[in-house]
Amino acid sequence: MASRFYVTTPIYYINDVPHLGTAYTTIAADVLCRYHRVRGHESRMLTGTDEHGLKIQRAAEARGLAPGVHADEISAAFRATWPKLGCAPDDFIRTSEPRHKQAVQELWRRIQARGDIYLGHYEGLYCVGCEAYYTEKDLKQPGNVCPLHHRPAESVKEESYFFRLSKYGDALLDYYRRNPTFVQPASRLNEVTSFVREGLQDLSVSRTTFQWGIPVPGDPKHVMYVWFDALANYLTALKEPEDNTRFWPADVHLMGKDILRFHAVYWPAFLLSAGYGEAELPRQVLAHGFLTYSGQKMSKTLRNTISPVEVAEALSEATAAALPGAAAGAPPVGVDVVRYCLMRAISFGQDGDFSIQDLLARYGSELGNALGNLLNRVLPFADEVPEKGELGPLEQELLAAQQQASAAAAAAFDAHQPTRALDAIWTVIAAANVYIDKAAPWVAKKTDPRRLATIVATLVEQLGAISVMISPVMPTVAGRMRDQLGLRPLAPEPGNDQWPLVPAARAPGEKLRKGSPIFPRLEKEKEAELLARFAPPPADAEATKAASGAKAAPEAKATPEAKAAPEANGGAGAAAQPARQGKGPVPFDDFARLDLRIGVVTSAERVKKKDRLLDLRVDTGDGAPRRIISGIAASYAPEELVGKRVVVLCNLPPRDFGKGLVSEGMLLTAEVEGRVRTITVEDAAPGTPVL
Ligand code: MSP
Repeated sequence: MASRFYVTTPIYYINDVPHLGTAYTTIAADVLCRYHRVRGHESRMLTGTDEHGLKIQRAAEARGLAPGVHADEISAAFRATWPKLGCAPDDFIRTSEPRHKQAVQELWRRIQARGDIYLGHYEGLYCVGCEAYYTEKDLKQPGNVCPLHHRPAESVKEESYFFRLSKYGDALLDYYRRNPTFVQPASRLNEVTSFVREGLQDLSVSRTTFQWGIPVPGDPKHVMYVWFDALANYLTALKEPEDNTRFWPADVHLMGKDILRFHAVYWPAFLLSAGYGEAELPRQVLAHGFLTYSGQKMSKTLRNTISPVEVAEALSEATAAALPGAAAGAPPVGVDVVRYCLMRAISFGQDGDFSIQDLLARYGSELGNALGNLLNRVLPFADEVPEKGELGPLEQELLAAQQQASAAAAAAFDAHQPTRALDAIWTVIAAANVYIDKAAPWVAKKTDPRRLATIVATLVEQLGAISVMISPVMPTVAGRMRDQLGLRPLAPEPGNDQWPLVPAARAPGEKLRKGSPIFPRLEKEKEAELLARFAPPPADAEATKAASGAKAAPEAKATPEAKAAPEANGGAGAAAQPARQGKGPVPFDDFARLDLRIGVVTSAERVKKKDRLLDLRVDTGDGAPRRIISGIAASYAPEELVGKRVVVLCNLPPRDFGKGLVSEGMLLTAEVEGRVRTITVEDAAPGTPVL
């Protein structure tokens, strides 16, 4: 029997439109689900809308609509958005559907029958934005202001049913201990554990002062607390219209870090109370970080302005415009590029930034130069798969790199780490590009046709494997690659694991169909148009304050230090600075945003009229080497550096040293007895992440 995989997104509140933040979660769930489908697992992805509660009732009132009418409209907008972002959920649940209502009421009855629901009075503070109860110490004083919504919490005093959450503290702690990967990233487990250790209060699970909710069985003047209703969707959706309960327990509930507590504490407590055993609790709750856009917090204005669907459509148009007439009819890749950038640029689990500049840079380098170019460098050599001769050391080296990377990518996807999976896949792409450089098919073409056949066949097989590995993130690109490689579209089926732990062999004579470039170079004007169109609107005061307080947008501000030492080391001048004392603690999330990688210096030369600078090319696994201008000429002769495996900070904003010298990263160095020394590592492949 094929193993199975069940992934969920949060169900989205319908007081908002789908935006980059919600798209991020849904795309991540889709990527994981597609990966499991390729592995031959019976896989299921669930998303939907969370429609009850005071927040939604008020949003509907503000529009002068009945809540049900408002719900139908916004829920339909969510449902229509996901396919436009390449997402293929198996089910879309609405909490206003009868199938959900009935199953939630049944859950309530089960919990009540266990004696875990009792009637009392609630008096306290409630933030409607969070739909959560708070104590004064959770809120900003004076004024009991919610730290997330910047509005005062409301006082609530009413009759309410309570859930005996306090009874489940020890059981939850035991579960966390026995299942150390239940909360991911691991760093967030502490936060959850300390919340439980501090002692759990019973939870108010019904309201009487508004009506837009699921009636409490036997006491319909109460409606259920919206989180009781909402969390249950993960289970209720499996019961109808078909019985899919074999998918329970969920393998992973994905969500943003703001709603981790509901999933890691309340949800398993409800389930334990309803009689589910430990083996029937969700296997993992994975909280991803928060996205900023060009360094700005996702304010309401920004959410409405930067639509991921529009970015994808505009990019598709730009790529089609870059191709001659007939070729422009190929399936557009804009959606795939957005998916790729969201998964690659933001280390999954950490906070991160998305910007149109970064997207265009990745489009040009990682997608165009590295992946697209690889295909274009191979296909012109043949119309059909040639017959492979004997494999030499170069082929063995490439095969070894592929095997290592495909195992690493699978392990990363298995651990729900799409960013790491892509890092691993791009090491194969880089290795295949290096292989072409070394194997030089253009020479073999003139001198040794049998050798040329081996080189081309090797690469065609590698490209086939790459098309499978990228397919969870970029299904359309994978399809276009496969078409050019003369392969059938991927058709996942339960029980058939198609992951290329070794590349699948191709039969000689199979047709190849060189097509138009998948990532054509964009015209300068088109790029400028995209940059202008998707530049963030001027930040509203609150958003800017929150974003700069939470994390500085480095490209927005050149620090005085960086200005004072422009020629330091490609970036902010770290190497040339004296040891800095008294640096405050850095939140782990901020540290984790650094894209540190092993790079191999492939060339180095002095910069004319700038004594301290070296102009380096460093292979950091992106396919094409990156240029780094480094202020280490006083400590190193250029030839000493070539071949060194150094540590490179890759995600600094590009730094212009004038006269066309633009640095795309910074080497890590240490000053030893007055000489700057690069930090080096032995035996690591270019692109290996430094963690
Ligand atoms: N309805 C609840 C979830 C109930 S699940 C049983 C809810 N909905 S929400 O629409 O407000 O948020 C949905 C998700 O979007 C959350 O996981 C939230 O973290 C995520 N994001 C909202 N803004 C975000 C960013 N700027 N960045 C990343 N994710 C963000 O909460």
